[in-house]
Amino acid sequence: MKKLYIVANWKSNKTRSEVDEWFHGFELALLQDPVIRKEVILCPSFVYLPRVKQLITEGSLPISMGALNVSSFGSGAYTGEVNAIQLKDYVQYVIIGHSERRKNFGETDDIVNQKLGQAFENNLIPILCVSNIEQVISAKLQVQSYNSKIKIIAYEPVAAIGTGNPDTPQKANEMAMAIQKELGDVPVLYGGSVTAENVHSFAIMEQLNGVLVGKASLDPHEFSSIITNA
Ligand code: PGA
Repeated sequence: MKKLYIVANWKSNKTRSEVDEWFHGFELALLQDPVIRKEVILCPSFVYLPRVKQLITEGSLPISMGALNVSSFGSGAYTGEVNAIQLKDYVQYVIIGHSERRKNFGETDDIVNQKLGQAFENNLIPILCVSNIEQVISAKLQVQSYNSKIKIIAYEPVAAIGTGNPDTPQKANEMAMAIQKELGDVPVLYGGSVTAENVHSFAIMEQLNGVLVGKASLDPHEFSSIITNA
């Protein structure tokens, strides 16, 4: 049975009390339906990484943690940045190159590639988000220079993100094949308007290894159903 990654991208959402509430709802659902071949990766805002880690530990929950971003620099005089060495205290994974960062924060392929470099140097596993094959090729060149390998790609067509209009599972599967043609046997996740209703149609596609979930991950019950249904 293939492995599925189910990643929650909380984006810039939730207060501390909402984080706690989420765990209240989620914990119960998860305990009723143990996760076996599915790796759940929760990515909250930086400020809640310690709290989320504490809640996972206290509840002995089978949940991994990821960060939503990483500085393109190491430690030093980079006011306001959070670097990979700091993140390593909390997470195993880091989302890099999300289209919202490319669009709203001017993240070019070069910056994305620097961030990949920071992740590789510090043994964080990047979940590289791409919306087209050019972005894959750019990252491929960077990875070669680090003598490393991209471990997880999330294919997220921009028109599908936050719109309620997901890509078709068939098109996502074709894109996954194109990505694997470039990068070899890398797990490809699909992201963009994934819900508890449609998650299974993506999870069963031959070339897909899971989903990256934005809005629907904010509700603990919906997210629990996504894990169950995947
Ligand atoms: P969405 O977001 O599930 O709300 O469409 C996905 C993402 O941006 O990762």
